[in-house]
Amino acid sequence: MSSFGDGPQPGQAYGLGGAAASARAYRFVEGEWLGPGPEGRIPVAVLGATGAVGQTFVRMLAGHPWFELAEVAASERSAGRPYGEVVRWLEGALPEDVAGMTVLPCDPGVLRSRIVFSALDAAAAGPIEPAFARAGALVFSNAKNQRMEPDVPLLIPEVNASHLDVLVAQRRVRGWTGGIVTNANCAATAAALALAPLHEAFGLDRVFLMTMQAVSGAGYPGVPSLDILGNVIPYIADEEPKIERELPKMLGTVDGDAIIPAPFIVSAQANRVPVEHGHMVCAAIALQRRASVQDCLEVLRAWRGDACARNLPGAPAAPLIVVDEPDRPQARRDVTAGNGMSVVVGRVRPDPILDVRLVALGHNTVRGAAGCSLLNAELFVSRGSLDDT
Ligand SMILES: NC(=O)c1ccc[n+]([C@@H]2O[C@H](COP(=O)([O-])OP(=O)(O)OC[C@H]3O[C@@H](n4cnc5c(N)ncnc54)[C@H](OP(=O)(O)O)[C@@H]3O)[C@@H](O)[C@H]2O)c1
Repeated sequence: MSSFGDGPQPGQAYGLGGAAASARAYRFVEGEWLGPGPEGRIPVAVLGATGAVGQTFVRMLAGHPWFELAEVAASERSAGRPYGEVVRWLEGALPEDVAGMTVLPCDPGVLRSRIVFSALDAAAAGPIEPAFARAGALVFSNAKNQRMEPDVPLLIPEVNASHLDVLVAQRRVRGWTGGIVTNANCAATAAALALAPLHEAFGLDRVFLMTMQAVSGAGYPGVPSLDILGNVIPYIADEEPKIERELPKMLGTVDGDAIIPAPFIVSAQANRVPVEHGHMVCAAIALQRRASVQDCLEVLRAWRGDACARNLPGAPAAPLIVVDEPDRPQARRDVTAGNGMSVVVGRVRPDPILDVRLVALGHNTVRGAAGCSLLNAELFVSRGSLDDT
């Protein structure tokens, strides 16, 4: 999925003041950094490149105007072999130039890219991601391990771009020359985008969430087909606590060196459903300040997110799309809105117990994982932060 317009290369102004203009591209030859590459793109690596999220990175990096996929890495099972031979490619055509790349081990002594996207599962990410950060890489992670650390951004550029500021303290306190920036659980990301406008306008007090989550959320090969075909499974290991704690952190505030979670309570119930892509979130919400459904709809429709995220190459035209049809959003029809980067919200209506309820849908491997990581890295580069590391 290559979804980029005629945006500028890093080093050219991107309507972001001086920030993007100060970004530089780098290349390496035989381990030596040689400064701006011939195409001006920044070489990047993907850890866990063979998995469901890793493949989404590979697809989304094809034709990226700022980043060039230079290295793919996975487990020892895959390392040393051509990517095209070890990957069980799931969607569309595997880019030819990537098929021939040799899969590397996830070893910071071997990989050279300073921007590293991690699609590792949690067991592997635990030791590997900090090792890369220590060695000077900026790791944009999808794993749960570091998400709740107060000095680790849990970033959605449209929602909480200022959380990137704690990276300075993270690197100072941990003595890292690199750093770790995370994105949230895929269902929590869809919920955060739908709830952020209401939190900004009226304050969230209590949120009750019920999710219906696609099978691709479990990675590959994921849930056995005989368990999920024609079925709904009312349990996804560890999912509910992740949603309950990550949402308040994402909508929290920066206080000095730490991110302080917003003081609202979340109750989540997660279900696996036989859908390929797209996590649906049904939410009932109590607000701190009184607001009618009409007030909520106006706020949701008008919301564009933080201005600093708007012109990034991977940013959708609208991070939130509000639909009026009573039977939308639907995974099959709406999951690719904004190239999978928009969250689609519908059924905004009064709630007889709390104040208002709505349904939100987000693409789990795109907006909920690889696409969000890419946007986080674009925000980082647009600030000129790569030059500070
Ligand atoms: N799927 C989603 O919608 C989604 C959304 C948000 C976040 N996430 C998170 O993103 C991460 C990846 O999820 P996924 O669904 O893509 O999982 P997946 O399909 O199971 O892929 C896991 C990847 O990790 C690699 N790996 C496993 N053990 C390793 C080791 N010891 N050393 C190095 N590499 C190792 C695998 O390489 P081999 O092929 O060589 O085994 C594979 O590339 C997880 O942390 C997940 O929680 C997933």
